[in-house]
Amino acid sequence: MKFLSYRHNHLYFEEVALHRLANEFGTPLYVYSEAALVDNFARIESAFTKMPHSICYALKANSNPTIIRKLRDLGAGADVVSVGELNLALKADIDPQKIVFAGVGKRDDEILAALSKGIKGFNVESEMELQVINQLAGDAGKSAPISLRINPDIDIHGHPYISTGRHHDKFGIALETVRKIIGNFSTYSNCELVGLHAHLGSQVADIAPYAELGQVMRKLIQEVQAAGHRLRYIDVGGGLGVDYSQPIDVATDALGRDDFAFDPSAIAEAISESIGSLGIEIVFEPGRALIANTGLLLTRVLYLKETTGKKFVIVDSGMTEMIRPSLYSAFHAIVPTNLRGGTRITADVVGPICESGDFLARDRELPEVQRGDVLAVLSAGAYGFTLSSNYNARPRPAEVLVSNEDVQVIRKRQSLETLWQE
Ligand code: LLP
Repeated sequence: MKFLSYRHNHLYFEEVALHRLANEFGTPLYVYSEAALVDNFARIESAFTKMPHSICYALKANSNPTIIRKLRDLGAGADVVSVGELNLALKADIDPQKIVFAGVGKRDDEILAALSKGIKGFNVESEMELQVINQLAGDAGKSAPISLRINPDIDIHGHPYISTGRHHDKFGIALETVRKIIGNFSTYSNCELVGLHAHLGSQVADIAPYAELGQVMRKLIQEVQAAGHRLRYIDVGGGLGVDYSQPIDVATDALGRDDFAFDPSAIAEAISESIGSLGIEIVFEPGRALIANTGLLLTRVLYLKETTGKKFVIVDSGMTEMIRPSLYSAFHAIVPTNLRGGTRITADVVGPICESGDFLARDRELPEVQRGDVLAVLSAGAYGFTLSSNYNARPRPAEVLVSNEDVQVIRKRQSLETLWQE
């Protein structure tokens, strides 16, 4: 992670000592770096400068209103998947013409809300959804901008829960059905075919799937154009992976390597090679790559315990604050916010939730820790807070944004009273 370093044995994020934040705001606490966010956006944005493009931030990764607003200020549009996310994007003053609406199960009221706001396009995931949008648009006296989400049957070879472009996944429309729809698109008289969309999956670790997608898209674009449609944009989805390994090198005080799994300009180049010359706007929908490595979760050590052959570090965050290790067996580096040398241990870092599947790390080598120490769970900015829950009646954590020496609370800790509300 960038902007994270040890100084005199204390872990700093930008110019702020993290153990101080834990003391002041309590734990569990999400902390984000504004400098890292600005840096990530600039790198992704600059990768695409050679072609007309939009960066539509996938709000599902982190929908904190301040984060969305910061990304809007940097020039981002939005990829939304619910009326809730649509409202958040609009409240952050994102131009509706920069909002794309995806999702396999859009409700009628969600479609109507998006129609009334005049969004850039509906990423349509089935023939039946297209029929419903056509009907609703007709009733509302509107024309709906449609982008067909294709299922290109491309495997990213990642975790099955976040691979979305294989033929047996629930996402997108099979290519033969896409061709049928294009052939009889005139029957959808309240719809305009403005784009094509694909999203291969998340945490994509290399460029090959994007290169393959470019080839599939190129062929399809030619067919769509031959059928007389003027495409306004091609949406290549999100998915750019990040490096979660972030090994800590205490000797050099260096944390992490490059934050992305691979250089984002490789995606732009692969797309450019296949469809760049067509002059159509490219939409890229990153979530994780923009936000994962801008955030970490602070958690305090509550207890240490040992059973036969096993050590446990019991902390005050668990699957309710960070479910990725439990749900996807995801690896998040965990480092102490104060270094005091000494021996290292191998332990499971577990939360307080009443499930054995509640863990942040298993068989992890760590510096020896004590009750009261504050640990940082790294690269937690994406799909951390947004996947948090009130399970075990635990209030959702607070979120703060650091910017140089400044600290801003961007979401208050949920109060116990809200859990009591009917
Ligand atoms: N576009 C669409 C249509 C998507 O479904 C997604 C993510 C994105 C863009 C953004 O993908 P990203 O750039 O963040 O990879 N909870 C999981 C990730 C689920 C991703 C769902 N779709 C995790 O924590 O790994």
